[in-house]
Amino acid sequence: MTDQFGREINYARISVTDRCNLRCRYCMPECGVKKIPHAQILTLEEILRVAEIFSRLGIKKIRITGGEPLLRKNLPTLIEKIKNISGIEQVTLTTNGVLLKNFYNELAAAGLDGINLSLDTFDEKIFSNLTRRKFLSKVLGGLQTLLDENFKNIKINCVPLRGVNEEEILELAALAKNNFVKVRFIELMPIGCAKNSELKGIPAAEIFSLLKNNFGELIPVREKNSLQGPAQYFSVKNFKGQIGFIDALEHKFCANCNRVRLTAEGFLKTCLSLDAGLDIRNLLRSGVSGNELSEKIRETIYRKPREHQWQSGIRNWEFGINRRQMYQIGG
Ligand code: 5AD
Ligand code: SF4
Repeated sequence: MTDQFGREINYARISVTDRCNLRCRYCMPECGVKKIPHAQILTLEEILRVAEIFSRLGIKKIRITGGEPLLRKNLPTLIEKIKNISGIEQVTLTTNGVLLKNFYNELAAAGLDGINLSLDTFDEKIFSNLTRRKFLSKVLGGLQTLLDENFKNIKINCVPLRGVNEEEILELAALAKNNFVKVRFIELMPIGCAKNSELKGIPAAEIFSLLKNNFGELIPVREKNSLQGPAQYFSVKNFKGQIGFIDALEHKFCANCNRVRLTAEGFLKTCLSLDAGLDIRNLLRSGVSGNELSEKIRETIYRKPREHQWQSGIRNWEFGINRRQMYQIGG
């Protein structure tokens, strides 16, 4: 379907849990994380019901996110069921990789179409400092499994941080030299913990020059796929994979935004930076009819806000500023 600004909305990100087995400094506080009680989290049946409505409204691609989605029980079954919904062309997963090796076979058997793996460092010390957990070897084991199994659609997400993983950018980028993977550098976004942590993101332009100086020209890849997200991809000579950049602040990609998000507690979020959306859980549990629910979702998507307002400081009178943490939204 198209929204009020004529954007085609064909992509939904569904967060299946707010829990995580890491505590990345830019995402979660060390302690005092208020977990949403289980009863307030959508059941797998409820998620499926929403996914079916999504598909009838024109959603073609679904990404499963968290928290850490692999902590959710029966996730492979959910993925398989979503894959079976007619109209859904792709189901993908964003994971921190800690449990990836354990679940790889089930995920592959469920028909998963792609995996985004978060990896900010290869250094044990930096990893445990940044994520406050000592799971680097598990994450690297997960990555190795994907590579060994020739999994078809691998993206590595890396958030460059000043003075943290700055020295490793070339090494991280080189993953795309030696493997058929896309390595994406994501600018730190001012959400939740990242807003008031001591961490500083490194601008994409700086990473771009660094890579160019070391690997040669970065050649823009034209995306023919309308399901592609906001990343801009580049090919590099002698690279098997590609390099991507997601710089929400520099290049506003709101004009081409194709997505909505469903939080674990069933809030349909139509803009990452604003508090616009619909409490679907309440509707689901008040015995709403399929048609009514579908109509409410359609209206909400139609009213998706025009753009984020991270830099402008303009007050949006219609919607409040986002009040959720990244682990509650799923990126
Ligand atoms: N800014 C940018 N990226 C973030 N992520 C989590 N929090 C932030 C933030 N504030 C990244 C994670 C993961 C992806 C889903 O989002 O590193 O790779
Ligand atoms: Fe967990 Fe991802 Fe947040 Fe890190 S960024 S704490 S892996 S949800």
